[in-house]
Amino acid sequence: MLSRLKTNGVAVIWGGNYFSDYLPPRMRFLVWDKMAGDFSMASCELAWTNQHKAARIFHYSRGEALQDYKCHPTQKPLALMEWCWRVVGTPRSVLDPFMGSGTMGVVCKRNGVRFIGIEREQRYLDIAIRRIESVNVQEQMQL
Ligand SMILES: C[S@@+](CC[C@H](N)C(=O)[O-])C[C@H]1O[C@@H](n2cnc3c(N)ncnc32)[C@H](O)[C@@H]1O
Repeated sequence: MLSRLKTNGVAVIWGGNYFSDYLPPRMRFLVWDKMAGDFSMASCELAWTNQHKAARIFHYSRGEALQDYKCHPTQKPLALMEWCWRVVGTPRSVLDPFMGSGTMGVVCKRNGVRFIGIEREQRYLDIAIRRIESVNVQEQMQL
């Protein structure tokens, strides 16, 4: 599927480094520096993008990430997704085919952007719907 990936929009694939045999070379990788002092876990995560622009780094510690309500084993921090969204150019609509707990959906709803999410596990789909629906009007207006 990845070898046929074609889009007129921006594509961002977190964990794209695991699919480097299938993705074309592009300049812009996004790096989440977890500012981890220990070496037992990865110090960073990488996202492949289809953009020919300079790579960018987001410094955000595990401790800060823990401030988010955790409801998925590989949940991304809201701050990371918000940053990622702004770096690649604020979109008019977003498709997240591996939605998990719906973090990207929360960011989209806060910013009034159309969002389509796909998730195969019912329990995570339920969580994502709950999280996205709970973004209230006040929160949207603050941004
Ligand atoms: C890395 S997690 C996404 C985490 C998400 N960014 C978050 O913040 O919660 C990937 C999700 O994709 C889902 N998934 C995996 N294969 C899928 C498929 N073929 N179709 C739909 N969802 C899939 C998994 O169930 C998992 O919840």
